[in-house]
Amino acid sequence: MANAETHDTTATSGCPFSGAEAGFSPYYHESIYEEMADARRERPVFYDEETGYWIVTRYDDVMAILQDHDRISAINTSDSATPVHEDALAIMKKGGFAAEKVQSNCDGERHTRVRMASASFLNIRTFSKMEPQIRQIVRKALDRIEGRGTVDLLADFTYELPVQVLFMILGVPQEDMEKVKAWSGTRTILNFSPSTYDQQVSGAKDMVDFWHYCVDLVRDRMENPKDDLASALLAYRNGDDSVLTLNELTTVVYGVLFAGHETTTSQLTNAFRMLLTYRHNWDAICADRSLIPLAVEEAFRYSGAVIGWRRRTLADIEVGGVHIPAGQDIILSFGSANRDDAQFEDPETFDVRRKNSRKHLTMGNGKHVCLGAPLARLEMKIILEEFTARFPDARLAEGARIDHAYTYVFRAPRSLPVVLGKPRHTGAS
Ligand code: HEM
Repeated sequence: MANAETHDTTATSGCPFSGAEAGFSPYYHESIYEEMADARRERPVFYDEETGYWIVTRYDDVMAILQDHDRISAINTSDSATPVHEDALAIMKKGGFAAEKVQSNCDGERHTRVRMASASFLNIRTFSKMEPQIRQIVRKALDRIEGRGTVDLLADFTYELPVQVLFMILGVPQEDMEKVKAWSGTRTILNFSPSTYDQQVSGAKDMVDFWHYCVDLVRDRMENPKDDLASALLAYRNGDDSVLTLNELTTVVYGVLFAGHETTTSQLTNAFRMLLTYRHNWDAICADRSLIPLAVEEAFRYSGAVIGWRRRTLADIEVGGVHIPAGQDIILSFGSANRDDAQFEDPETFDVRRKNSRKHLTMGNGKHVCLGAPLARLEMKIILEEFTARFPDARLAEGARIDHAYTYVFRAPRSLPVVLGKPRHTGAS
């Protein structure tokens, strides 16, 4: 890939994970796609010493594991990448942190029961009703950047939009955005990056505050129901713990308040970057906006916000000709599977006209497939429609180098400098 990228470890200064030069590292974003292409050819399933995980790279193998709910567990999907120090655990315990493994990181009956509850509100019906409000939010954000010349599209645009939308779903006031964003950033480091002792201890305090924020939100909705996720779950549960306990409900809120925006922010940033890098694709969607839904899928495929997702073996398994014993941790390399030429023709080409891009695995597959997928798709579609109408001449700022967060789970750029070009007004806003 011809994109300029640099390795950045500022989120994890002092961490021991810096051996990229010595060979493959799942943290090293600069050459991750080339490394994975080699792996698919030469060692499609391999053990990575750095993380202690088996890495599965081919599409069919990743898909088979995602669908094997008897022998494969999702219990480890949000586990801390570094074992949590007892001091941090003590802070969380003392602070009353009580999030459980209830949704993306649980299996079996509990998962089915909690997923049914969440899906009673997180569904296309709820999301499509939000379309006019989302469009309004996007137009206001475009008004704010208009006239700025060059912007950091992440800091100035894609950072806020998904959280604003998510706050509507959760009935959370917009003025809490900075707080929630800061907690979410900490949670990304704790769960998905190697973390230092100091990060764990200060992060533990943040997670206690984040948890109590969700507890208070749920308590408030018990007294003052609204049209939001917590109120819908309370109505669904109707006081019956066998349907959903209050603590499970609070954990779902705690989960969605994180999962529903960080990923979409990165996905949007990746999409803009790819469309503007492979410019004829940008020109194509400006000329024909009916291509935008396909462009969204191709961005999910080519530069997904989730590039590696975890699972654990419950039994000995054979995958890609490799034996993996029971009790082992696995990284499913979505980033690799999405560029597997056994599934996608000419996979290293970014092409908004690709017919089967929707087969990407960026939002998982099987029983855990992302519940927010229709919302993420809708947001991205609206944002690209509005942005291309307003700034069709936008281009990447010259010489921009893009760093990524230091994690093998997300592909999360830290900035995206873009020259907006002359705005067009369609009279729509
Ligand atoms: C671009 C944006 C997003 C990406 C890339 C993404 C990705 C993912 C992935 C990889 C999973 C795990 C799938 C698996 O284990 O098979 C997941 C699960 C989940 N996502 Fe998303 N997600 C996004 C947006 C959202 C949004 C907007 C929401 C909420 C409004 C959301 C809510 C959830 C929930 C609740 C689950 C757990 C589902 C389950 O285990 O049953 N996600 N997502």
